[in-house]
Amino acid sequence: TLDFNGLTQLLKGLSVSRPPVELTGATILSNPLDLCRSALAELITSLTECDVQDAYKSIQWPNNIFNGDLSITLPRLRPGCKPAELSTELVDKFPKDNALFDPPLPEGVHLRVFLKLETVSRLLVPYILDRKRYYGFDVSNHITNLASKEGDRKKVIVEFSSPNITSEFQGKHLRSTIIGAFIGRLYDSMGWDVTRINYLGDWGKPIALLRVGWSKYGSDEAYEADPVGHLLEVYHKIEEDFKPEQDASRQARDDVAKEGKDEGEAQVEIESRGIFAERNEAFKKLEDGEEDTVAFWKRVRDVNIENYTKFYERLGVRFDEYSGESQVTPEVMVEVEQMLKDKKISEESGGAWIVHMQTLGAKAGTAIIRDRSGSSTYLLRDLAAVLERSRKYSFDKMIYIVASDNSVHFTQLFKILEGLELKDLASKLQHVKFSEVSKMAAILGKGYKPQAILDKCEEAMASLSEIDGDKATLLGGADQTRESLATSALLVQELSTRSSSTHAFDPSTLASFKLGSGPDLQYWSTKLRVLLTNAPSTEELGEEDYQALAEEDQANLLRVLAQYPEVVNATYLSLEPSGILAYLVTLTELLSECLGEGEEDAAVTPGLAALYEATRIVLESSMKLLGLTPLADL
Ligand code: ARG
Repeated sequence: TLDFNGLTQLLKGLSVSRPPVELTGATILSNPLDLCRSALAELITSLTECDVQDAYKSIQWPNNIFNGDLSITLPRLRPGCKPAELSTELVDKFPKDNALFDPPLPEGVHLRVFLKLETVSRLLVPYILDRKRYYGFDVSNHITNLASKEGDRKKVIVEFSSPNITSEFQGKHLRSTIIGAFIGRLYDSMGWDVTRINYLGDWGKPIALLRVGWSKYGSDEAYEADPVGHLLEVYHKIEEDFKPEQDASRQARDDVAKEGKDEGEAQVEIESRGIFAERNEAFKKLEDGEEDTVAFWKRVRDVNIENYTKFYERLGVRFDEYSGESQVTPEVMVEVEQMLKDKKISEESGGAWIVHMQTLGAKAGTAIIRDRSGSSTYLLRDLAAVLERSRKYSFDKMIYIVASDNSVHFTQLFKILEGLELKDLASKLQHVKFSEVSKMAAILGKGYKPQAILDKCEEAMASLSEIDGDKATLLGGADQTRESLATSALLVQELSTRSSSTHAFDPSTLASFKLGSGPDLQYWSTKLRVLLTNAPSTEELGEEDYQALAEEDQANLLRVLAQYPEVVNATYLSLEPSGILAYLVTLTELLSECLGEGEEDAAVTPGLAALYEATRIVLESSMKLLGLTPLADL
């Protein structure tokens, strides 16, 4: 195995006398490019006066291998230097016969450094074939932690998906589900103990409105036939009835604002009658625990969870806990309110309890803790949920994956916690936001169930064979394959868009073998598996095998494989999955170049088998991180 001794042996074979010294932040055992970076830092320290740690920090990896494997930023190496002079000095002194690097190429304030092509295969192949599925993930986090007890691992809560049970599963919930599951897997791979929570919108006025709707439109028969569908139908009907009242109330409020009166009497009057009154009464009954209302709510919640679970299963997503707004305990809410009052953060206003966010130094409007009717708010429930979760899980970190329509809400939540002198707790929380445009109902029609999203994607897969018959044939046409291709296509479509870019679910572009698309990634993984069937053993590679991999196409592919740990690290820091997809575009492009015309039928030598296996390891590792199950693993 490639522990420190193994690495020393491997390097000896490359005429490198010893591994580089251990630098702060370096992970030479899990990251071959970092090994090279450390060695380069030592080398330039011996050539010019600088601190080895500064040298290490001045070396980056260029995203594009055509700009080098590593790049030295000269002003960072020696602040205030004349880059041209330092560059000439280093190029002159750089040993011509270094085992790892070719002489560097100056380019502006950078020195581009390329690994020796002969070295690339000899270093990378044993490295990746030894690490296998752990390649790319920091072993100091991972391997030691896997061996140690659960309790030694850091704990992260990932809260995602979180749909509202009275309405359709929207585009933003889909995106949260896919990004959240991805972040969960990433933390898992990095050695964290991950708990996945689905915080359902299963409480509050909408549930009460559904209750009112049920008494008017509910049918046991229709419910038996299609529970979730019928509930959505009932909800839309009552929403329709309710709309004129809501419009009138809004109008009254706007009139008050215009005329500068401070009493919204007309609004209060409107809200004390009709569906408003029925809804508020139903909510009161729910909060007071009235038996029938609670039973109704529970039935709605259970039947939705059952349905969501089936949907998530098709996507390969699971939760440790179906929590939700309804699960927050009233006692903890009261506790939070008391703290807010004691610290004079909240104040009464027209019967409601509010927080002026600017008193906490945040431009985030006015936060409502408890409304005029005495009901708890979304915000109060979330505040209490943080306390409860921290007591239950004592987490080191909690990540909320929620669309940017909730940004102000999370700013209020975090700032109020800080105001409560729970800075420590607040600093463990992170809102991962993303932007989205929900066109779901336009595509699927009102009243759709989440399954319809996946059905639509599966339908789209039918045209794959028209797009590329050869590729489609290799993938095969079994039902299970089609399902898997559909989810692959969907996951990639969601994850390749930068989180900050607006994005809408679009089944019309899913059927594609474009580089980096879901079906294309599946194609390459299948293709590699086929090439590796009956391929010779890679146990003992000879000189000629390594030499063959020093050819430009093969070496370039290996150089891209060397970047994988860096890509994973960068993603771990940014939590932005689109970088992995961009990486996979490059990887599969170079792979297709290696397999160019004719070579496809050439016999697979042990050297090529090693290259294909290393590529398969990286390709499938990143696919799994994104949530794609390679077809061969189905
Ligand atoms: N149900 C909410 C919505 O659909 C998202 C919940 C986000 N999580 C939270 N802890 N507030 O917008």
